[in-house]
Amino acid sequence: MTLDQFQADIKQGIPSEIPNAKPYESQINHAPKRKEILTADEKKLALMNALRYFPADQHAVLAVDFLKELNDFGRIYMYRYRPDYRMFARPINEYPGKSLQAKAIMLMIQNNLDYAVAQHPHELITYGGNGAVFQNWIQYRLTMKYLSEMTDDQTLVMYSGHPMGLFPSHKNAPRVVVTNGMMIPNYSKPDDWEKFNAMGVTQYGQMTAGSYMYIGPQGIVHGTTITVLNAVRRIAKNRDDIKGKLFVTAGLGGMSGAQPKAGNIAGVISVTAEVNPKAAQTRHSQGWVDEIISDLNELTERVKVAKDKKETVSIAFIGNVVDVWEKFDTENVFIDLGSDQTSLHNPWAGGYYPVELPFEDSNEMMANNPEKFKGFVQESLRRHAAAVNKHTAKGTYFFDYGNAFLLEASRAGADVMAENGIDFKYPSYVQDILGPMCFDFGFGPFRWVCASGKKEDLQRTDEIACQVLEEMMENSPVEIQQQMADNIQWIKGAQENKLVVGSQARILYADAEGRMKIAEAFNKAIASGEIGSVILGRDHHDVSGTDSPYRETSNIYDGSKFTADMAIQNVIGDSFRGATWVSIHNGGGVGWGEVINGGFGMLLDGSADADRNLKMMLHWDVNNGVARRNWARNENAIFAIKRAMEVEPLLKITIPEIVGDDIIDKLKF
Ligand SMILES: NC(=O)c1ccc[n+]([C@@H]2O[C@H](COP(=O)([O-])OP(=O)(O)OC[C@H]3O[C@@H](n4cnc5c(N)ncnc54)[C@H](O)[C@@H]3O)[C@@H](O)[C@H]2O)c1
Repeated sequence: MTLDQFQADIKQGIPSEIPNAKPYESQINHAPKRKEILTADEKKLALMNALRYFPADQHAVLAVDFLKELNDFGRIYMYRYRPDYRMFARPINEYPGKSLQAKAIMLMIQNNLDYAVAQHPHELITYGGNGAVFQNWIQYRLTMKYLSEMTDDQTLVMYSGHPMGLFPSHKNAPRVVVTNGMMIPNYSKPDDWEKFNAMGVTQYGQMTAGSYMYIGPQGIVHGTTITVLNAVRRIAKNRDDIKGKLFVTAGLGGMSGAQPKAGNIAGVISVTAEVNPKAAQTRHSQGWVDEIISDLNELTERVKVAKDKKETVSIAFIGNVVDVWEKFDTENVFIDLGSDQTSLHNPWAGGYYPVELPFEDSNEMMANNPEKFKGFVQESLRRHAAAVNKHTAKGTYFFDYGNAFLLEASRAGADVMAENGIDFKYPSYVQDILGPMCFDFGFGPFRWVCASGKKEDLQRTDEIACQVLEEMMENSPVEIQQQMADNIQWIKGAQENKLVVGSQARILYADAEGRMKIAEAFNKAIASGEIGSVILGRDHHDVSGTDSPYRETSNIYDGSKFTADMAIQNVIGDSFRGATWVSIHNGGGVGWGEVINGGFGMLLDGSADADRNLKMMLHWDVNNGVARRNWARNENAIFAIKRAMEVEPLLKITIPEIVGDDIIDKLKF
C-alpha cells in the first residue's frame, strides 16, 4: 500500500461500503473466547450499541455478522473493518493531519497495535490478556479520522475506546483526554468488566495499552532489573559480597521472563522454575536465560558448583517451583533471595500450576473440573508457603513480586500472615524496594519515543540523557547517588542491549529534576535541528500516577492507601499544565476495581511552548506523588519534597509533624 493510500484510508474513517469479511488468521495470537455472560436482552443491547456506528441500510447485514462474533468470541471486534495496511509506528510526518500533536498520538496508537508489540493484535489487545487500545476496529478507524482532521483548537474525548468527538478547546489544552473502565465503584467487580465490555460500553485499558504508551518488553526488563538489583543490595554488604548469592523464583512468561536477565545484571546465581517447557525454551533461545535443567538432582549439583565458584549464571528449571523450594531445604542449599512471578492474579485459569499435578493434567482439569482444580491450587499454595517459611527461618529474604502470591496463599489458608493478623509476613517489592528506594525520591519509569522513527535520533537522545545525568550526579545528594549511577549504567548499555521492539523508544528511571532536565535538553536539540520531535511519557506504575494498595502505594502506611485522590489529581493537574494527552484508568496489573492509574503523553517539538510545558508539567507529575508520600510520613519523601521546595520557591508543601511513640503508647485504646 502506498503512502497516499494509507493516508486516504485514515482520512476515510468508516468505509462507505461494507468491506468483505476477513478470514480468521489462526497463525496470529488471538484473545481467548470470553465467557458467556450476557442475557438475551443484554445481547440485543450489545448489537444495537455496535450498529450505532453505521447507516441504517447496512444494519441487516452487519447485525448477523456481529451477533456471530458475539457468540463465537464473547465480544464484537468488527474484524472485517481491520485495515489492510501494515500496523506500525510510522515516522510522524507520514500521518495525515493538521496538528503535529494529533499525529504523535496516531503514531503511538499504531505502535500499541503493531504485530511485533501487541499480544492479540486483531482483538486490539496490547498486553496482559485484556489491555485494550479500543474495543473494536470501528472505534480505531473513527479515532484516527478525528485525529487526522482536528486542529490545535480542539480536544478529542475518548470514553473507553469510543471517540465521543471533537470539542472546541485551546492550543495548550490536551489534544486527547482518555478515560478507560471508569465505573461507579459498586460496579467494579471482575464480572462487571466481562458484562459491560461485552455490551460495548467500557474497556480494560491496563496501564499503557489504553493510554497509547506501551513500548514493548524494554519497560519490563528495566523495572525487573531495578527491583532485583536493589533486592540484592538489601542482602549484600558490598559489591564483592553479591558474588555467589542465590536467587530462587518462578515464571518465564511475559513479564517474569525478564528475571534471569535481571539476575545476571545484578551478578547473582538465579534459578527460575517454569512448568511450561515451551516458555522456558523460548526464553533460552532468546538468550534471556543461560542454562536449562529439568532434573532436580542435577539442578542441586549445578547450583552447588555455581556457589563454590561464585558464578554469575541464570538457570531455568523445567518443573514446579514448589519442588525447588522443598529440595533446596532438604539438601541444605541456602537461598539468599526468594520471590515468585507465577500469575497468581489469575490462579484458577492457568496462572498457577499445582505441584501435585503434571502440567498437561492441570490444563485438562482446569477446563473440565474447575472446582477440583481450585482445590489442588490451594493445597499447592499451602505447601509452597510452608517451604518458603522453612527457608526464611534460615535467613532467606523473600519478597512478593506484585503477583498476588501472598494474597492467594493467605486465601488458601497458608501460613503467611504477620502476627497482627492484618499484614503479610513478607513485604511486597514496592514496600521494601521500589517504594522507599525509588518512588519516595521521585524516581520512576520516564520514557520517550523518537517520532522520526530514526535509530540515530534514539542514539543521540541516549547520549543527551546520559550527559545530563552525569552532570547532575556531580551535585546529587548521597541519598540518590546509587539511583543516578544505576541509570547512567543502564543508559550506557541500552544501545548494546538492543532493547527496541516497535517504536524507537527508551525508558530510564529519573526523578523530577532528571526528567525535567533531560526533556529540556531534548527540546533544545529539536529546536536546533539536531534531532526530530520527541514524545515523552511514562508507565502508569510510577510515583504519582497510580493508587494501588497492594502494589504502587503499598508503602503508604497512614491508612490512605485505599484512596485514589493522588491518581485523579495527577491527571487533572497534568491536563492543565501542558500534557498533549492524559488518561485515567480503572484496573491495570492487579485487576479491575483494585487500582486507579493515570498517565500522560507530551510532544516536544522544539518550541518555547514545549519548553514551558515540560517544566511545569513534569514538575507536577512527579512532585504530586512525592508530596503525598511525604504526608504519609515516608522519610525519603519528606527529604525529597523539602529539597524540591528549596529549588522551586513557588512550591509550598504541608510537611507532617511526627508524633513520638511515647505519646501514643501511653494512651489506652
Ligand atoms: N515483572 C514485573 O515487572 C511485574 C510487576 C508487577 C507484577 N508482576 C506480576 O507477575 C506475574 C507474572 O507475569 P507474567 O506476564 O510473566 O505472566 P505469565 O502468565 O506470562 O507467566 C507466568 C509463568 O509462570 C509459570 N508457572 C505457573 N505456575 C508455576 C509453578 N507452580 N511453578 C513454576 N512455574 C509456574 C507459567 O507457566 C507461566 O509461564 C503477574 O501476576 C504479574 O502481574 C510482574
